[in-house]
Amino acid sequence: MTYAPEVRERLEREAKEIIARYPKPRSALLPLLHLVQSEDGYISDDGAEFCAEQLGLTKAEVLGVATFYTMYKREPAGEYNVGVCINTLCAVMGGDQIWETLTEHLGIGHNETTPDGKITLERLECNAACDYAPVVVVNWEFFDNQTPESAKRLVDDLRAGKGATPTRGPKRLCTFKEASRILAGFPDGRAGEGPSAGEASLRGLRLAKANGWEAPRPGAEANEQKRGSEE
Ligand code: FES
Repeated sequence: MTYAPEVRERLEREAKEIIARYPKPRSALLPLLHLVQSEDGYISDDGAEFCAEQLGLTKAEVLGVATFYTMYKREPAGEYNVGVCINTLCAVMGGDQIWETLTEHLGIGHNETTPDGKITLERLECNAACDYAPVVVVNWEFFDNQTPESAKRLVDDLRAGKGATPTRGPKRLCTFKEASRILAGFPDGRAGEGPSAGEASLRGLRLAKANGWEAPRPGAEANEQKRGSEE
């Protein structure tokens, strides 16, 4: 498979726009991989070759990066990439049960896709959303405080074409290809439609403000020590 001339022309135009954002072309590899993933639904051989050509890299260098990061798929992904966090906090709060329930319910395992091409299931490490454990992310949008039952309903709704509304961020879930395009650096302008932070995070912020707590400034401790040794 090679790209049709009009597709290639569009990809080249967009790749040029992405590359211009960086001081060195090769720095644009990650967004370029998302760009070809938004076209093919995974990092195809053609996609890897395209990235290599645009950036003056070898295909091996491109694939070395694409196989290192789990956000890039080497097999066609489903319309919805459903990630279940099974890292410590989510696991003890029910993430392990969610994983077991979904694998059994869908009949697929890690990085596998349902025969209808709708759902790819993925085990994820910590998503930095532990205050909403256990979390499930669909195309990297958060579904907080899940249970095995709610996760089952979520995948059933997605397979039935009913869509779903993430807890935070956009009000409508986009497809895996659309999400890849956003990650390539072409936002759809919908990230701020819903709440950006939930009550658990905001409560922490309120507590910090009430107590006058501040995050340490970078280098502040070293400067403090230096001052101490000079006195
Ligand atoms: S352990 Fe699941 S988000 Fe941190």
